[in-house]
Amino acid sequence: MTGSATRGAAATWLNPLRDKRDKRLPRIAGPCGVVIFGVTGDLARRKLMPAIYDLANRGLLPPTFALVGFARRDWADRDFAEVVESAVRQHARTPFRQSVWDRLAAGFRFVQGTFDDDAAFARLAQTLAALDAERGTGGNHAFYLSVPPDAFPVVCRQLHASGLARPQGDRWSRVVIEKPFGHDLASARELNTVLNSVFPEESVFRIDHYLGKETVQNILALRFANQLFDPIWNAHYVDHVQITMAEDIGLGGRAGYYDGIGAARDVIQNHLLQLLALTAMEEPVSFSPAELQAEKIKVLSATRLALPLSETTSRGQYAGGWQGGEQVVGLLEEDGFAADSTTETYAAITLEVDTRRWAGVPFYLRSGKRLGRRVTEIALVFKRAPHLPFDATMTDELGKNALVIRVQPDEGITLRFGSKVPGHLMEVRDVNMDFSYGSAFSEDSPEAYERLILDVLLGEPSLFPVNDEVELSWQILDPVLDNWAARGKPEPYPAGTWGPPSSFAMLARTGREWRRP
Ligand code: BG6
Repeated sequence: MTGSATRGAAATWLNPLRDKRDKRLPRIAGPCGVVIFGVTGDLARRKLMPAIYDLANRGLLPPTFALVGFARRDWADRDFAEVVESAVRQHARTPFRQSVWDRLAAGFRFVQGTFDDDAAFARLAQTLAALDAERGTGGNHAFYLSVPPDAFPVVCRQLHASGLARPQGDRWSRVVIEKPFGHDLASARELNTVLNSVFPEESVFRIDHYLGKETVQNILALRFANQLFDPIWNAHYVDHVQITMAEDIGLGGRAGYYDGIGAARDVIQNHLLQLLALTAMEEPVSFSPAELQAEKIKVLSATRLALPLSETTSRGQYAGGWQGGEQVVGLLEEDGFAADSTTETYAAITLEVDTRRWAGVPFYLRSGKRLGRRVTEIALVFKRAPHLPFDATMTDELGKNALVIRVQPDEGITLRFGSKVPGHLMEVRDVNMDFSYGSAFSEDSPEAYERLILDVLLGEPSLFPVNDEVELSWQILDPVLDNWAARGKPEPYPAGTWGPPSSFAMLARTGREWRRP
């Protein structure tokens, strides 16, 4: 926490362009370079390199920006540039502009080596020093670890040994790490100890890309810029909250990462618990990183699992089925997964938030692969009106009121309430009132990674979970993981459906049901 407070102050100081009085001033990064470890991986190709290009295209990177790839491949700088170009042409959000590309690509370098090779890190240090001299990157470097977690310690040690982790004077050195931050509380603590022995906490940026999404940041605007919602945002009015992250894709090609990890560690420990924190937290004193993190930490500290876990959680694994008119195989037939894999591809848990605002309101979190469709949403489902002065049959089609934050893909907010059906009868049926980003705004939303990479370069830590948040999230989840490990195989569900029977039973036991997005 102390680290975060210092970090917030440093962020403003480092970036004099961020003058609060003029919102038109763009946030442009100062002189710097980024080194990507794991540059041949999928994330780098699909997200990181395109995001860097998009930032350059939007004029948010300094003209002297440098990008260094580090990997085992025997590439020259030119080969690396070709790989980046093809990633950018395929995945960038903004159009390809030759002049932007040429200027950006002039700052590309490639360093060949393995993580345990001291000489390779010495070459990396030389390359960065040369870039500082040639391009004026000012000795400011962000090291992006897009590598498996077991490689974090060795890369950190090498950065330390080669003098890159703690630069002199007012130069900065930041490390960006991708999840998973460990696989349980104990391993997360170990990882944090290693990281903090090399990089001070204020130089560690833990990526949770959900926090970079526009619609996720809009939770703060919706809650704290309006008077309309706060009075009903509590246990007096809310019956329960459902947080859903459903994907229709399967896990073909991802066995190396996913087998043994599963849906709870992959997304509930991070994305879904962060969504819960933003939905349930109290208003922060300000949006300074320290104040925002303090509120998230408070609410995560008050969050507990509902018991017994045999009834309040559900774990499934997709079997073969039909999706989008195509026949698809089950997880056990996907390439690379063990034929007896017990990895869950569907996970649901029930949480309670023990605060005055939320006591008694269940928070249901679910996520799965190969579900009916891709959708992420947060739904506050309200209590029924205490009395309905209508003939009983007139409200047969009236459900509970709901406020739904549509995180993706159809970004927006829906309010569901009862309305009179036109005609002679006083019949009431659910209708939706929609706000949609697509029709309300002409600007496209930046990709989450654009926002987050820029924030790293600006030294702006608000959207990065701190150590305490990561550890609290594991503390919440660990008992579920232990319980599931002791229970053996997950329950199968056919691809293209909405999860295993136990997930429906989990809500039905209290007379509730999952929304059908
Ligand atoms: C990642 C998970 O963090 O998020 C993936 O590791 C998942 O399993 C992905 O597919 C989903 O991201 P998005 O932004 O497409 O919802």
